[in-house]
Amino acid sequence: MDSKIELIMKNFPECVIESRDHNGNLKHSIDFDVLRQILGDQISDDPEAYRFDWVGKNSARIDAYRKIDKTLRPDLDSSLNFDSTENLYIEGDNLDVLKLLQQSYFKKIKLIYIDPPYNTGHDFIYKDRFEMDSEEYAEAIDLFDENGNRKFVENSDSNPRFHSDWCSMIYSRLLLARNLLSDDGAIFISIDDNEQSNLKKICDEVFGGSNFVANFIINSAPAGTQSASNVSVQHSYCLCYAKIISNIEFLIKRSKEELSNRYSDSDGNGNFYCERLWKRGVGGRKEDVPTLHFPVYFNPETKQILIDSEYNGEDGFIKIIPYHTAGVLGRWTWSRERMISMRNNLIVKKVAGEWKLHKKVYESEETGKLPFSIIDANIGRTEIGGLEVKNIFDGKKVFEYPKSVDFIKHFLNFIQDDDFVVMDFFSGSATTAHAVMQLNSEDHGNRKFIMVQLPEVCPENSEAFKSGFKNICEIGKERIRRAGSNFENIDRGFRVLKLDSTNFRDVSISPEELTREKLFDLIENIKSDRSPLDLLFECLIDWGIELNLKLELEEFEGSTILNYNAGDLIACFDKNISKSVIEFMASKNPNRVVFRDESFSSDSERINSREIFKLHSPNTRFKVI
Ligand SMILES: C[S@@+](CC[C@H](N)C(=O)[O-])C[C@H]1O[C@@H](n2cnc3c(N)ncnc32)[C@H](O)[C@@H]1O
Repeated sequence: MDSKIELIMKNFPECVIESRDHNGNLKHSIDFDVLRQILGDQISDDPEAYRFDWVGKNSARIDAYRKIDKTLRPDLDSSLNFDSTENLYIEGDNLDVLKLLQQSYFKKIKLIYIDPPYNTGHDFIYKDRFEMDSEEYAEAIDLFDENGNRKFVENSDSNPRFHSDWCSMIYSRLLLARNLLSDDGAIFISIDDNEQSNLKKICDEVFGGSNFVANFIINSAPAGTQSASNVSVQHSYCLCYAKIISNIEFLIKRSKEELSNRYSDSDGNGNFYCERLWKRGVGGRKEDVPTLHFPVYFNPETKQILIDSEYNGEDGFIKIIPYHTAGVLGRWTWSRERMISMRNNLIVKKVAGEWKLHKKVYESEETGKLPFSIIDANIGRTEIGGLEVKNIFDGKKVFEYPKSVDFIKHFLNFIQDDDFVVMDFFSGSATTAHAVMQLNSEDHGNRKFIMVQLPEVCPENSEAFKSGFKNICEIGKERIRRAGSNFENIDRGFRVLKLDSTNFRDVSISPEELTREKLFDLIENIKSDRSPLDLLFECLIDWGIELNLKLELEEFEGSTILNYNAGDLIACFDKNISKSVIEFMASKNPNRVVFRDESFSSDSERINSREIFKLHSPNTRFKVI
């Protein structure tokens, strides 16, 4: 079921109805009138409501949810360890790719990092696809090339929709990206002053203002931009939103040096630091919580500590009471009972000449620290990324302004887990993939990456072109290969998938258009240049199965059987396959099985195959394409 319909179904099942699509198949859809009735006066028609609008916003939303006749085709030649890797490198326009990943990766991605074009006046972006009404028709046709694909055009600031086009571009993609974030996931978006304020408002709408985590400020150009007027700008931003803010807990590990500075005391139980036990600031006065105001007694010679009524007037003890501010009585953060049960963790130290009560916090309890909102130049400086790429490519500057590996690693480190999927759908030189591999090799993690990049052509006068790279995907893939070769015991492979038209022929030809040749074409429903692997991946997309799982190819009696994710889906797309092959496949008890029309020599063979599965593997979902 479509994920949007599933969501509505969960909350308002009465709105979900069954109807038929144009092929007559049953499908779920929404009775909007019923939904309207349920929402009642919570529906607003007020044109003056607080919201962020721009020219083309509605079209961008429609565009995001418009269905496409496309697929992802595996490319074995440019992949590395195709069968076993759990990483993906996807080539194509990210809007289409995000659409195709909606089901397979619904709520499966824990961290998305993107570095979209900043809209500096020279960026190339895909223009919004406007509705084909009469006024905009002329403009709209200019947005598509001769193959019906949207054109990749320079967005110059003389364009009257300069900001609107950028907003539409990012809005449609973020709408789709949000669906992919897991409930404990977060998205990080690099940006600068050109679009930061617009992006913030769009993110507030798409992710919800309450899920805003931070607007990181990055010291990306410590020497300041040379070309700026009035102010020499040193910083850029990275906006971060959680899918659900209460589900995330960002912490980063302290370095060895930070740890030894922080846990500078030690006792028989290990290194510790002293944390005050009196409450400061709001809620810290005696009258705020009177039960937490009581005396504690300390013997400086024996170091013995007695809590409140434990003290019976023994000699050598001094009385300590909590103060909020000078002359204002305060309160402790621990109760009497807690202090008694945690007595070994109590310590009294002299602070500014006065004895004060603290607790020991041991290094063994260290969980990490909250990340700061300002990111230093040592990881944020733009130059670092450039130098890294130059080093990888034998001194050639094949990519402009990549991020540094440590910059992306910094965000990956916010997440305590080390086994999750990271996605970057403006992946450029694939710094994010590099960072994932590097961090995995450092901490033995099992993070996986999904890179998406348009095969944007390298101009002939560019260093990239002169170094033999025709498009940016070639640079990204080569970087992963080269960077990966430095790491051992990690998954440094990647499965390349390329966006293309669907594997299926267009069979919706009107009788007038039907020529003898076309009729011949229609006999086979699958395009002649498509391989069994192409068909497998389109099935995975249709069935909403993740695309980065293990694949095994098995030969049985001359037929090739594709076994995806240990029996999650088994397929054979050979022609006229034998009964024993079908039985062999059924003996594996797969969750799903797929054949193509031509797999069977006749209708009765097809029916027999279904019967074989019913008999030997009754729970298998059976499909013929
Ligand atoms: C600023 S760069 C990202 C650089 C990257 N963070 C790095 O460190 O190398 C933006 C990238 O997004 C790509 N891009 C732009 N529009 C795209 C689209 N519609 N689909 C996929 N990639 C796109 C551009 O080709 C460019 O490589």
